[in-house]
Amino acid sequence: MDGNGRWAQQRGLPRHEGHRAGARAVREVVHGALEMGLRHLTLYTFSTENWSRDREEVDAILGLLRDEVADNPFRDLDVHMRWHGRAGRLPTDLADLLQLRERTTRGRTGLTLTMCIDYGGRDEITRTAAALARRARAGQLDPDRITDEDFARHLPHPDMPDVDLLWRTGNEQRTSNFLPWHSAYAELHFTPGLWPDTDRRDLWQAVTAYTGRQRRLGAESPNPLPL
Ligand code: FPP
Repeated sequence: MDGNGRWAQQRGLPRHEGHRAGARAVREVVHGALEMGLRHLTLYTFSTENWSRDREEVDAILGLLRDEVADNPFRDLDVHMRWHGRAGRLPTDLADLLQLRERTTRGRTGLTLTMCIDYGGRDEITRTAAALARRARAGQLDPDRITDEDFARHLPHPDMPDVDLLWRTGNEQRTSNFLPWHSAYAELHFTPGLWPDTDRRDLWQAVTAYTGRQRRLGAESPNPLPL
């Protein structure tokens, strides 16, 4: 969700207004995802690197997240909310709220909306390596026989599915430490528009572009798309 700051700058507004407009775009895109029948939507909301922004901006983003999660805009929708990222560094009230939403929406089967907050791909991989090392030290795992599947089982959120489509707005063509393990075979989609200007039609276009690609996943002949 890139481009909140530029959106605000273009209007002579403070950056936090760009994030507020970004939160409105999130609500809109979640409705679009439900309409289309998407099963998973995973949002890169606050990265491990975002802590290095001005204290004022960090506080504004975390405050906005707290307000959004407290407001519970998806309460009447078939949305299971999840939080993916480091525990322990977020303000306790925000972490508690995120865990509460996760628990109370657990039975919902429509869209799984995962918010990556204090998330970093390298951090995730490092923590997974540490978990494997602990198992090996305890004699429960042979380091010479560790497989991809073992690694995936030790990820902090082992039930997170692989990414089919990775979409970044804001005219940047990088994946910036987002879900590197899960995105190994993701289709990449980069668009010039700024996140706050994004609506469900952009989501539709992103998915349409994805369905037009041939996913080979390393195989010779194209595999059918999993949508
Ligand atoms: C990147 O834009 C955006 C962020 C670091 C914050 C994302 C947060 C939201 C969209 C708000 C709320 C989200 C939810 C899930 C309720 P940027 O500030 O780096 O933009 P720039 O590249 O134009 O400076």
